[in-house]
Amino acid sequence: MKILMVCLGNICRSPLAHGILKQKVKDKQLNWIVESAGTGDWHIGEAPDRRAIAIAKKYGVDISGQRARHFQPAFFEEYDLIFVMDRQNFADVCAQADNKESLEKVQLFLADDIVPDPYFDDNLFDPVFQMIDKRCTEVIDKISKKKE
Ligand code: 4NP
Repeated sequence: MKILMVCLGNICRSPLAHGILKQKVKDKQLNWIVESAGTGDWHIGEAPDRRAIAIAKKYGVDISGQRARHFQPAFFEEYDLIFVMDRQNFADVCAQADNKESLEKVQLFLADDIVPDPYFDDNLFDPVFQMIDKRCTEVIDKISKKKE
């Protein structure tokens, strides 16, 4: 299983989802690969936002080694599932798909809700961490059950 987490900048939400799921996958000794990317290209090569690094650290997850990447259409082939954080990410990623199989890999990470962008609101980092953490546990349960 290869999972890609996608947001706009790849410095706040998707690095948290990437780091949290990667840690849970490791704890469960699952053989999954988890990575992330952004639909925007402004932050390519940068470490996550210092506020994202700090909130992850507070809850025992180290995301400081991640570096931002830009979403590429080739990722449709590379990953089994592409989780996007909001509806704009969904539209931006889907616009780059050229077949049904690729489109079917793209899902809102929270299924029927969005992960709000905390970039302009420091107070959102904690609730965003919590909602991503809860959903990562659900995703592991759901996918590992399906594979049994
Ligand atoms: P992210 O947050 O999509 O969760 O990484 C953002 C990061 C940077 C910008 C916007 C959102 N930006 O405008 O640079």
